[in-house]
Amino acid sequence: METFIELVYLLSAVLFVVGLKRLQSPATARGGNALASLAMLLAIVATVVDTEILTWTGILVGVAIGGLLGGVAARRVEMTDMPQLVGIFNGFGGGASALVAIAEFTANPTVGMGTTGVTIMIGTLIGAVTFTGSFVAFAKLQGLMTGNPITFPGQNPFNLVVFLGVIFLAAASLGVALSADPMVLFWIFLGTALLLGVLIVIPIGGADMPVVISLLNSYSGLAASAAGFVIGNMVLIISGALVGASGLILTQLMCKGMNRSLANVAFGGFGGSAGVDRAQIGQRPVRRADAEAVAAELGYVNSVVVVPGYGLAVAQAQHELRKVGDLLEQRGVDVKYAIHPVAGRMPGHMNVLLAEADVSYDKLFDLDEINSDFGSTDAVLVVGANDVVNPSARDPDSIIAGMPILDVDAARRVIIMKRSLSPGFAGIDNDLFYMEHTLMFFGDAKDSMADLVREVRELA
Ligand code: TAP
Repeated sequence: METFIELVYLLSAVLFVVGLKRLQSPATARGGNALASLAMLLAIVATVVDTEILTWTGILVGVAIGGLLGGVAARRVEMTDMPQLVGIFNGFGGGASALVAIAEFTANPTVGMGTTGVTIMIGTLIGAVTFTGSFVAFAKLQGLMTGNPITFPGQNPFNLVVFLGVIFLAAASLGVALSADPMVLFWIFLGTALLLGVLIVIPIGGADMPVVISLLNSYSGLAASAAGFVIGNMVLIISGALVGASGLILTQLMCKGMNRSLANVAFGGFGGSAGVDRAQIGQRPVRRADAEAVAAELGYVNSVVVVPGYGLAVAQAQHELRKVGDLLEQRGVDVKYAIHPVAGRMPGHMNVLLAEADVSYDKLFDLDEINSDFGSTDAVLVVGANDVVNPSARDPDSIIAGMPILDVDAARRVIIMKRSLSPGFAGIDNDLFYMEHTLMFFGDAKDSMADLVREVRELA
């Protein structure tokens, strides 16, 4: 039986790897997701059959509560709130791993300094930090607390002292340096680790939260892996390591998309708009255009590049957008879609939206691929994007300085579809709106796009 379960674990680990690999391309991603889900099912069934871990009643109650919460959350949460959902799931993942390690320590408080003891401490530490850190990240994104960085003098040295304190307490719980009751030391260690999670995340601003969530996702994987070592469960070790590694890679990609180092995200206190004078935003005159004028701008040119952003997701205008794209193509216009790596609120957000509307993948171009084309593009249609096309990223004094942007201002004509002159996620004004060759097409993206479909159809 034991060999059989190990084999099933091995099979699910292989399926996880293949599933992840298939997530690399939108064309195979759906199948990859299904494979990974199957792997998870196999792993769960194997664990459940191996009932030495829990009784059937415990398992069924857990499945019922967890399944219900997960199902309701997945159905009710808007696509645009996905980062929060992922954040809170990470938190639970980290918490669960910490609980496994805590249970092992409670069962044997005199485990002492050795592989098992150290692994228990690592699992508890990373799990606890992930748990509280994720809940703070959730609260920031959900608007339950300020999205601005919360900073105080001497914060980084203070956090370092707390971190060193946690390490000392972990060692002390394993009988090193102090001869107090290991259980008491362990609870203090746990409390300090939980506090550390809060301290690490509060100085990070709302705009950086998706990066933090991705990093915490990686931590939750490491915590699961540590928990796997503690209880000798191979599939937990492997799947945790996969989550840990892929989370770290994703975090790096997101940092690259914003031209920031991870250290700058973690310690920079960036990402809030606290220093920005909001009264100045949107005060300059702009040129407006209605659907009829925009249709004429787009319908008689050779090339149009569409830049989707967060507003497209909010308005759910992707299907109408695709209709506009199709109609323009029927008129002989070359239509491309420029995808910024951090457009929207989660990695791949725009790819998912456009895939939902069946926009062909070969029309989607990454920032690096398309940026040099804007100079020879007739018209750019920006749909609910703001920060990712904000030329102030080229200004060293801007809070988004250095963030790679789509150079849409180089095109002959820029049309921006959004509801107002409100800022984007970074909370700053956008000079693009006020440029000579820019037309503002105000309105909800879905309504505006529906109007545009009608007007393009009516073009001669
Ligand atoms: P944003 O800069 O957030 O701008 C979105 C714009 O959409 C807003 O200015 C808003 O203007 C407009 N909008 C909202 N609802 C709309 C609707 N119903 N119809 C039409 N327009 C609507 O979006 P972006 O350009 O996609 O940039 C993403 C931001 O998120 C960046 O700052 C990025 O750094 C940050 N971020 C993203 C990620 C990932 S992984 N994607 C990770 C970290 C940070 P109105 O209110 O005037 O309509």
